[in-house]
Amino acid sequence: MTARLIDGKAVAAALRADVARRVAAAGLSPGLAVVLIGDDPASAVYVRTKDKAAREAGIGARTIRLPTDTAQADLLRRIAALNADPAVDGILVQLPLPQGIDPAAVIAAIDPAKDVDGFHPLNVGALADGRPRLVPCTPLGVMKLLEAAGISPRGARAVVVGRSSIVGRPMAALLLTADATVTIAHSRTRDLPAECRRADILVAAVGRPEMIVGDWVQPGATVIDVGINRLADGRLVGDTAFSSCAAVAGAITPVPGGVGPMTVACLLENTLTAALARRG
Ligand code: GUN
Repeated sequence: MTARLIDGKAVAAALRADVARRVAAAGLSPGLAVVLIGDDPASAVYVRTKDKAAREAGIGARTIRLPTDTAQADLLRRIAALNADPAVDGILVQLPLPQGIDPAAVIAAIDPAKDVDGFHPLNVGALADGRPRLVPCTPLGVMKLLEAAGISPRGARAVVVGRSSIVGRPMAALLLTADATVTIAHSRTRDLPAECRRADILVAAVGRPEMIVGDWVQPGATVIDVGINRLADGRLVGDTAFSSCAAVAGAITPVPGGVGPMTVACLLENTLTAALARRG
């Protein structure tokens, strides 16, 4: 392996400690409401992780668990109540939602000032316009990882593989705002390996286990792996074939221990940002 390892666990721990310090220094007790509908086991794990991390940072976290057959109108009423609750600074509705609930309607119902996921159309539009407000946690975490690793996007050729609303699109917008030359590649991209090989910063967010291999990586490039895929044998792998990419890249994030921990840390940061903004 030639690549330098970017230690997301360490960067996330430092960010969480920093959020805890700023919460205490401001004499705040920000409130975060997490809404979990149904019994998806992966979502339950994520929500417990978020809840624990929030408490450790001095953020009052409350998880609202609702049954799978919750009616959309009932969910919208609960969101309206959280919007009106002055003790709540951040609202996160865990995705994916059960069949029969329209995620776009749910996200649009959240007060944009409390939208710590950065998914509300107003926050999406602000980011697209280069005026980021509350921005999605995973791409924000990637930007903080790059900064911590001393890798500047300015003038760099960045290729984002994946165009999801949660990661790919906001990732591209943040890199553009940071003066990178950005390409968004996806499943229909012609000659994906050639596009990837142009990247100084390659962000993999496709959700396909070990799809990107070392031959697709420019020697010395930075490889950021957003993927978390569970294989049949139980192993957790990213969207990049780690050892072959690490043999070519200049720096790379591991899975687990790369981007994943940053997502939770950035949720805490967004909650603090929302709490401070709401208090003027
Ligand atoms: N499900 C997977 N990632 C996310 C995320 O960042 N936010 C929410 N709300 N749900 C998710």
